[in-house]
Amino acid sequence: MHDGSGRIVVQNLSKQFGAVNAVQNLSFTVEPGSVTGFLGPNGAGKTTTLRMLLGLVTPTAGQATINGRPHSQLGNPARVVGSVLENEGFHPSRTARNHLRVYAAAIGVPDRRADEVLGLVGLGSAADRKAGGFSLGMRQRLALATALLGDPQVLVLDEPTNGLDPEGILWLRNFLRSYAREQRRTVLVSSHLLNEVEQLIDQVVIISQGVTRYYGSLDQLRKSQQSRVLVQPADPGALVKALQENGITAVSPTPDGRVAVAGSSVQQIGDLAAKAGIAVYGMQEDHADLERMFFQLTQGQFAGGPGQQPQPQYQGPPPGYPPSGPQQQQHWGGPQR
Ligand SMILES: Nc1ncnc2c1ncn2[C@@H]1O[C@H](COP(=O)(O)OP(=O)(O)O)[C@@H](O)[C@H]1O
Ligand SMILES: [Mg+2]
Repeated sequence: MHDGSGRIVVQNLSKQFGAVNAVQNLSFTVEPGSVTGFLGPNGAGKTTTLRMLLGLVTPTAGQATINGRPHSQLGNPARVVGSVLENEGFHPSRTARNHLRVYAAAIGVPDRRADEVLGLVGLGSAADRKAGGFSLGMRQRLALATALLGDPQVLVLDEPTNGLDPEGILWLRNFLRSYAREQRRTVLVSSHLLNEVEQLIDQVVIISQGVTRYYGSLDQLRKSQQSRVLVQPADPGALVKALQENGITAVSPTPDGRVAVAGSSVQQIGDLAAKAGIAVYGMQEDHADLERMFFQLTQGQFAGGPGQQPQPQYQGPPPGYPPSGPQQQQHWGGPQR
């Protein structure tokens, strides 16, 4: 029997397509009761990972399980996991209700469930319209309705905000949050755009080139980036030394001649500088936004277009950001540059 936990566990998962390492040794866990964002630029390996989780692609190595089992051993998978992958097609001349009834029959749920899920996704009034005439946003909702037919414990959505207008994104956010939180379901949502899902997710897994760059709570990622102070001292070398002697080691010079200090307050730094007799001409708290952090975490991505140069992989946090906070410190600890 599966363990009924509603937990998704991805362990050392890898997929190679010929010479392309689409996914490399990826590990993360998604718990019920929260929405997890699976983020990375185009080509990062998100869809491949989700397809492995759903049993549509065979891993080269490692495994992905839901309720402790691979998808192929779930028994009645539509009751356990509902999914929306990229480019799902609908029969254009079939009405929304009939589309859903076909799928309902296939997984053994009663016809009336079609109308229930149409109501859940706000398409009740479009039940008798043909899916071929739907807008992209309506098609996304119909795909979600299809995923919900089996009342699954786990929802896996690949780029669900694509094609949604701001109102649609707001609706999706409220829907998924209550699905996850109030009903203790597990929700995993991929996106290449952090700002479209930022308001929607609690936990985040950021990947680039098939490798995990960050795995942890979004709050922690936010906090980790707000604790940097840029100091303009008379003698940068002396300040770095004084800080290090006092146990403040997350210190790095910036290209413009300042010193970036993470994990310390303006007051602490000012007091230490005064004690060491180092003049300080200015201090500034630096609040990098999440978008910039996302970009920095994934900028090593090389999508492989013709004529492009591969860039070195990202090795650590942006200068002056602490290696602490995020759960997977091995991705943060490398030297700068
Ligand atoms: N069936 C396939 N055959 C060959 N290469 C593939 C296949 N599917 C995906 N890839 C490659 O794997 C990498 C990851 O793709 P994908 O998982 O679609 O990324 P994402 O969903 O994050 O945009 C890309 O380099 C892509 O070209
Ligand atoms: Mg994709």
